Amino acid sequence: MTSSPLSRPDWDTPAADSSTAGSDTAAFSFSFVPVAEPGPGQRWSAYDDPGILTGPEPVPDWVITESGAIETELGTLKSGKEADVDLIERALGERRTVLAAKRYRSTDHRQFHRDTGYTEGRRVRNSRDRRAMAKGTRHGRSVEAGQWAAAEFFTLADLWSAGLPVPYPIQLDGTEILMEFITVEDGTGAPRLAQTRPDQDQLASYWEQLHQAMVVLAGRQQAHGDLSPYNLLVADDRLVIIDLPQVVDIVANPSGMEFLARDCRNVCSWFTARGLEVDADDLLAELTSYAW
Ligand SMILES: Nc1ncnc2c1ncn2[C@@H]1O[C@H](COP(=O)(O)OP(=O)(O)OP(=O)(O)O)[C@@H](O)[C@H]1O
Ligand SMILES: [Mg+2]
Repeated sequence: MTSSPLSRPDWDTPAADSSTAGSDTAAFSFSFVPVAEPGPGQRWSAYDDPGILTGPEPVPDWVITESGAIETELGTLKSGKEADVDLIERALGERRTVLAAKRYRSTDHRQFHRDTGYTEGRRVRNSRDRRAMAKGTRHGRSVEAGQWAAAEFFTLADLWSAGLPVPYPIQLDGTEILMEFITVEDGTGAPRLAQTRPDQDQLASYWEQLHQAMVVLAGRQQAHGDLSPYNLLVADDRLVIIDLPQVVDIVANPSGMEFLARDCRNVCSWFTARGLEVDADDLLAELTSYAW
């Protein structure tokens, strides 16, 4: 990390005046001004560190990119099946932003294992890692957690750049993704679609947004792979798609069409149960036509 102006002591160099010039005992004194140093539960922002992958350009102006920024753990937002989502405040002077840190657990600490259908065709560059994963050693399991984090980070970056409604991915550091915290107007976390009770107009608007996003995804030959009203957040009027490590290629992945069909069923049954008749088979047929 480059040293920050906040952490640098304020050196008092001796004045070059005649009273001290030439004297062996010239008094070098320095005094520290009170500086912000990370305390317990804090750390320096690693945004600028080598080895950290940062999100796509143009970087939104709310992202604090300076290395002198300090991050404070605010606690866990949700413990999921395979990752914890914690909140972090990144601050630089008066500027403050709250970010979501999705931290993948090493696969031996998970309550859930994705079926291997998702990972078909995934490459592991390093043969030591490949052997460790095959043997299921601790190293192998943490490599796997890092792969899920990287898969989600790159997907978020691609989809954000394509204009899809996903959180902006700020940085990837091993098994941790820092991303935009999706909120409602008062700054609290946006609810999952499943927790909301939309009226018919809102329901129609959410469907339109979701349909449009699925069309764009299908045009890229992609399916979310775990789409449900639990992986859609409602930021006031806006629907945001989250939880994207398992996005599948519906053409190249032999199970791709099954994942797409399941996504269609999951969302259509939720909307239909709330009074908006949408048909999963029609949706699947339409999306398939965009993929080929
Ligand atoms: N960027 C975000 N902004 C706001 N809330 C978020 C964000 N990312 C995740 N969450 C919250 O954390 C929960 C878990 O996140 P996510 O679905 O990505 O992880 P997961 O491990 O797959 O969890 P689950 O097992 O619940 O699906 C979400 O349902 C949502 O409530
Ligand atoms: Mg989820």
